[in-house]
Amino acid sequence: MRAIAVSEYGATPALTHVPRPEPGPGEILVKLIAAGLNPLDWKVADGMLKDDVDAPFPLVLGQDGAGVVEDAGDGVTRLRHGEQVYGSFFGVARGLGTYAEYTLADEHGPVGPMPEGMIYTQAAAVPTACMSALEIVETARVDTGQTVLVVGATGGVGQAAVQLAAATGAKVIATARDDMAATMRGLGADETVDHSAGDLNEQVLAAHSDGVDAVLDMVSDTARTEALARLLRPGGTYVSTTWSVNPDSMAAQEIRGVNFEGAPTAALLARVSDLIDAGTLRVVIEREVPLEQAPEALADNRAGGARGKTVIRI
Ligand SMILES: NC(=O)c1ccc[n+]([C@@H]2O[C@H](COP(=O)([O-])OP(=O)(O)OC[C@H]3O[C@@H](n4cnc5c(N)ncnc54)[C@H](OP(=O)(O)O)[C@@H]3O)[C@@H](O)[C@H]2O)c1
Repeated sequence: MRAIAVSEYGATPALTHVPRPEPGPGEILVKLIAAGLNPLDWKVADGMLKDDVDAPFPLVLGQDGAGVVEDAGDGVTRLRHGEQVYGSFFGVARGLGTYAEYTLADEHGPVGPMPEGMIYTQAAAVPTACMSALEIVETARVDTGQTVLVVGATGGVGQAAVQLAAATGAKVIATARDDMAATMRGLGADETVDHSAGDLNEQVLAAHSDGVDAVLDMVSDTARTEALARLLRPGGTYVSTTWSVNPDSMAAQEIRGVNFEGAPTAALLARVSDLIDAGTLRVVIEREVPLEQAPEALADNRAGGARGKTVIRI
């Protein structure tokens, strides 16, 4: 089958041919129609997990996808042949990914029926960004009446976090360059601050001199995180997806610091599906590319400037 893979960590992702996988007991074989691109995909290609997972090569890239159940191993009962499914198919340990014609999933993993009315290219954009955002907003205990700053708000996780934080009744301040300010308001942000136009702390404090209750940060390094943490009121929470938080130093400042690690499950994905079905959550698709252009799309995502999700048509 056709797939985008790397031949070793650090190699440039390329179109290649690999054997079609066979489902074992409890597994489904999914014929993929679309894959969703996440920064994790190029980080995996770079070797981010090399000390944790003994991956075989070629290593097919991609975690998120949507497609049709084509076959099932012994004992599969939850998902049926022909069912339209989507989810996070984390196959690094077996060299499998979603930038391919087929992949496997444990039927009890974070894979499930597609949200009602969604097409494959929309569904593939959802899993990692939306499951992560839901966990992040809950980890920060965002609630009505609070003020929340979302940093990296214009990306996949950020856009979902803005919507989910706004849905709690919190006041949401979203980072956005000029071209994205209106989009972020449309997703529920009450205010935007432009991270390319001066100091973020000054911009936030100009309108909120007593600070904010939570910072949900998808992009900052340690130094920037330390600076942004000064915006938090005592008792506030800082959640970082890039592991830029020093929890002990934050505890000494009477704030809670959390380095977020997503824990996708079938139940979490089902909650995301419900939020989409209810109209509380949507994904903005910035770009769709055919499978053979996935290497360019990965390079573009690495360079920055995402304005929503990139989807790969298989
Ligand atoms: N730990 C976990 O379990 C977990 C889970 C999900 C995601 N993540 C990580 O979270 C990060 C974000 O993921 P994503 O899918 O949302 O990425 P993405 O879709 O590529 O979006 C990143 C966004 O951040 C903006 N940005 C970059 N620098 C910024 C800055 N200094 N201030 C404010 N905004 C800035 C970018 O726009 P501009 O370039 O135009 O500024 C872009 O819109 C990635 O590193 C990903 O690996 C971690």
